[in-house]
This record gives sequence, structure tokens and C-alpha cells, in this order.
Amino acid sequence: MSEQTMLKVDRLTKSYGTAGGRLLTVLREVSFELGAGATLAIVGPSGSGKTTLLGLCAGLDRPSSGRVVLAGESIGEMDEDARARVRNDHVGFVFQNFQLVPTLTALENVMVPVELRGEGGPAAEAEAQSLLERVGLKERYDHYPVQLSGGEQQRVALARAFMNRPKILFCDEPTGNLDDDTAAAMVELIFGLNRERRTTLVLVTHNLELARRCERIMRLKGGSVVSDEVGVAHETH
Ligand SMILES: Nc1ncnc2c1ncn2[C@@H]1O[C@H](COP(=O)(O)OP(=O)(O)OP(=O)(O)O)[C@@H](O)[C@H]1O
Ligand SMILES: [Mg+2]
Repeated sequence: MSEQTMLKVDRLTKSYGTAGGRLLTVLREVSFELGAGATLAIVGPSGSGKTTLLGLCAGLDRPSSGRVVLAGESIGEMDEDARARVRNDHVGFVFQNFQLVPTLTALENVMVPVELRGEGGPAAEAEAQSLLERVGLKERYDHYPVQLSGGEQQRVALARAFMNRPKILFCDEPTGNLDDDTAAAMVELIFGLNRERRTTLVLVTHNLELARRCERIMRLKGGSVVSDEVGVAHETH
């Protein structure tokens, strides 16, 4: 694996045992490699394994078989503590269902990654405030998740992912709950991160316009890769 490789996935398979005793394979022998600064969109119908693949790549879950090497670390074989360390060092993740901490305010949620590293403090708080301002939530610092709309929660989740200054950002439907204007602003932020900090992007989306901004589009169906087009981006960054 070259030094520039950010993510390498090799014959990744994920199966679940069903209540009926059958084995359900939701991801089947998926392989790909992404360099630092690359952009990948993962598309495909509901239930095709997109979120499962993203979770395995980010070290949130372990594969049934196959390998994931993230920033040079083989995370597929690691225990939860070791994976958490790799995630906290390298990864930003925007979940399909946001996963904000309900007992923390918007500002406190954005601060979670730095607090976990023991690096909280006035400078980090100022950065968290500036990120919330960039996603248009200046007036919402002290709102709890239940006091935010779905799209606002999504924007807090995005600010939190940026707070980690990740080398690689995974986004599961980052524009799914947003109106067109807000979605466009979020997309600019995400691709801005890619341009300014060379953050690698892996986006799951049903939005083809967003997918086409990525250099590569991978289509899943029934847990398998059915197409993988490289060099499709309309614009070069
Ligand atoms: N814990 C689990 N146990 C059994 N099956 C699961 C589990 N988690 C997910 N699945 C199944 O895996 C398949 C893929 O799920 P996944 O969430 O990856 O789909 P997706 O492509 O992200 O779909 P969507 O576009 O609806 O978000 C689904 O059919 C789902 O039912
Ligand atoms: Mg999903």
C-alpha cells in the first residue's frame, strides 16, 4: 500500500444471522482503494449495503471477512478501543440519523471529538462556535437536539465531523434532510474541506448531482459493486 493510500478495502463481506437461522449476506466481497484527497460517492437502492459499507470503512463495525486498512492501520482486526482511537485520530462521520447526544447542547455536541481527546478549552470552543456559524446555526448554540429541526441537527452533525479535522470524512446522506439552498451550502463546506485540507471524502447519497461532483461513483446492488466509474467529476478541484 502506498503512503498516499488513505483507505484500502479488500474483499469486504458482512453477513448477519437471521432469527430464522439463515445467514444474510448484506455486503459481498467489496474491494477498492482511495488515495489521500480522493472523492468517492457510493450510490444504490435502499438496502443495498451503503450504510453497512460506510460503517465498516470507518471502523464503526467489524467485517465478517475481508480487510479494511484506514490511514495505514488495519482496523478490521482491531478491538473496539483500538478502533475508537483510529476513528478519533483520523475520521469524521456524519450519520444518516445524525446520532447527536441528546443531553448535550449543539455547541457541546460539536465539542465532543476534542473533549474525547482531552483538548477542550476556550480555543476549541471558539472553533466549535465558528463551525456552527458556518453551518448557519449561530443562534442555536445552546439548543438541545430535540429543540432543533431535522436539518439543523444534520448541520450540527456536520460541524461535529469537521471539528475532528479529519483526514477522511464519511457522510451518509449529508443532504437528505435539507432544502436546496442549505444542501448547496453544506456541499460547498464538504468539498471546501477536500480542497483546503485535502480531506478524503466518502459520500453515500441518493442525490445524483452530489454524486457527480465526486471523482468516482460506486454503485451497490444487493451488497455487491455493480459499477465503479472513475474520473466522472464535472469539475476538477
Ligand atoms: N443488524 C442487522 N441485522 C440484520 N440485517 C441487517 C442489520 N443491519 C442492516 N441489515 C440489513 O442489511 C441491508 C443493508 O442495510 P444498509 O443500512 O447498509 O442499507 P443502505 O444501502 O444504507 O439503505 P438506505 O438507502 O435505505 O439507507 C438491509 O437489507 C438491512 O436490512
Ligand atoms: Mg443507509
